Formats: sequence, structure tokens, C-alpha cells
Amino acid sequence: MEAQAVEERQILEKIPALLLRWYDGCARVLPWREDPAPYRVWVSEIMLQQTRVEAVKPYYERFLERLPTVKAVAEAPEEQLLKLWEGLGYYNRVRNLQKGAQQVMERFGGEVPADFQALRSLPGVGDYTAGAIASIAFGIPVPAVDGNVLRVVSRLLARREDILDAKVKKRVETEITGIIPKGRAGDFNQSLMELGAMVCLPNGAPKCGNCPLEAICLAHRAGIQGELPVKAPKKPRKAEKRTVFLLTCWGRLALNRRPEKGLLAGLWELPGVQGTLSAKEAEAVLKDWGLKPAGKPEQLPAAKHIFTHVEWRMTGWAFETAEPAPAFHWADARELSQELSLPSAFQAYFPEMEKRLK
Ligand code: ADE
Ligand code: SF4
Repeated sequence: MEAQAVEERQILEKIPALLLRWYDGCARVLPWREDPAPYRVWVSEIMLQQTRVEAVKPYYERFLERLPTVKAVAEAPEEQLLKLWEGLGYYNRVRNLQKGAQQVMERFGGEVPADFQALRSLPGVGDYTAGAIASIAFGIPVPAVDGNVLRVVSRLLARREDILDAKVKKRVETEITGIIPKGRAGDFNQSLMELGAMVCLPNGAPKCGNCPLEAICLAHRAGIQGELPVKAPKKPRKAEKRTVFLLTCWGRLALNRRPEKGLLAGLWELPGVQGTLSAKEAEAVLKDWGLKPAGKPEQLPAAKHIFTHVEWRMTGWAFETAEPAPAFHWADARELSQELSLPSAFQAYFPEMEKRLK
């Protein structure tokens, strides 16, 4: 045990020099690396929480153009925020970013705080994100350990512990803290993320031949890199059947606000109910909502959307209705394309919506 700890220590200590040399030579040029101003880094880390770098880039530029300061986000109308985020998913991220910006205005005089604990206290900012902002924007020597970093470390040290276990993560954070090079905390943390994103790839496919850490990597030496990291199996997602309604009247489409709590909280949605409904059942629901069909219903294609903990198995019915019932918001084509944002969960039905609003 003792000898193993010593060996691990020796490997850990060799990481910074090897990784930084590699990072200096071939890190991707990314907008938040070019100019790591605190607000810019904050926005980038929130977008990157559940989304890949390539998908984030166009959103990032547009977001910063429209909302270039903490103050601008703090004061932005919610619909504008959601519109700028439309397609990225996990909308609570942008809601929390706004709450965080409002707190920065109120509690920190409009300056993103240069302090790990203060950052950590903002909504939507966990240990990883606080570490990333603190180190990248301010050079504070704290770790930023996400799934990528856990994967790299578990392979380097050939560890078979479950990387989803909070204790395992804590230990890695402590180990990384011990090797952050002076003056280069941000680059070092990003070099670990970069290795995980570009070389030490997930799903058993690391490119060890291109890896700056090949010579010191225990998993590679043992030929077990494909078996690592170990993750305890997650609970399977719950499948929920759902029927959505595409209700049109006079060139407008019926939308609902979702409840303020839970899945897609407070966002617009196509009206819907649980279950897979027949045409007859759908018509009965329509009646409950105080609507009269103006013609025959049309069946829409089935579609699936995967959330973190559930998945929707959707079917749909399109109705032209005789009159617009006041319980819904009736949006026209311009409003839909320019002001409101519908979550990507309904993406499969966007073409049908467009067709019917012409
Ligand atoms: N993922 C999260 N933050 C990142 C960063 N700063 N660079 C690359 N990938 C990241
Ligand atoms: Fe990952 Fe292979 Fe590099 Fe080890 S040698 S860190 S397994 S890419």
C-alpha cells in the first residue's frame, strides 16, 4: 500500500511539465482562452457544463455580443435569455446565470469575485465551475475536476474505483491541488480537460499513441486503458408516453407555459397530456380544454426526446380549431421565430408547425 502511494505521488508530480508542454504546443484556440476575462470564462463554463465545445462556439459568440457584461445579463428580459439559449438545452443553466449575475451586482458591486468560495456561492456554480473560473480567470490555484479529469486520472493511476463516487472525486481534487504549477493554474486545469477531450477519450477509445503522458500512464502500461474508468451503473431513465397537440387557429399556434417547478420549468410547450391518445381520445381532451375542432385531426409522427432522468415517447395530433380558447397563448409565426423559444424536446414537430403557420 505504502509503495503504491509513493508510485502514485511520483506519477502525479510528473504530470504538470509534460501536460503544459503539450498544451502550449497544440491546445485548441478557443474564444474564452483568447481573452479569459472573468465574465467571459463564467459564461463559457456554464455553456460547457452539458454541451460540447464545438456546439457551444456559435452560441457563445452571439451571447457575448448581445449581453457583453454581467449587468446586461442581470437586466435582460427572460425571453431574450431563453432565445439566446434556444437549442442548447438545460435552460436552468441560463436562468441561474442570470440569478448569479444579479447577485454579483448586489453582493459584489458588479465585479465577478476573485474568490473560490464566493464563486461557489453563486447559483449554478458548483465545485468544478468555481474552480474553473477561479483558476482560468484569476489564476487562483484550485482544481477543476469534471468527468474528463476523473477519467484521465483513473487511467493514469490505473484505479478501478467508481469515479461517480463523491469520495473518489474529493481525493482527486486533493491530489490535483498538490500539483498545480505556480502561476499556471488555469492553463494546467485546461490542459487536463483538453487531454480528456482530445486524446484520453471516453468509451474505451483513448489515443495513447498521441498522448504526452503515455510514458507514465499505468493503465496504458498494463493495457487496461479500455476498461477504465469504472462507473457504477446509473438508474435507467423512466420512459414517459406523451401526446402533444399542434393546435392552430387563424394562423396562430397554441402554446402553454409549463409549471414553475420540474422538467422544463416555466418554459413554453406544445400543449400535451400523458399517454398515447387515439384520435377520439384526443378530441375528448380538446373538448375539455374548451376547443372545437374545425376539421379532421391529423396524426403527427412519433418522436422521442431524452432528458437527464426521463425520456418522452411522443405522438401528436394536429387540429385546426374553430376559435382560439383564452387558456392558451396563441403565437404567430413571427413571434415564434423571433421572440418565444420552444425547447428542443419539441424539435421533431417544428417542421409541422412551420407548415401550418404559413
Ligand atoms: N470544458 C469545460 N471547460 C473547458 C475549457 N475551458 N476548455 C475546454 N473544454 C472545457
Ligand atoms: Fe489516457 Fe492513454 Fe494517455 Fe493513459 S496513455 S492518459 S490512457 S490517452
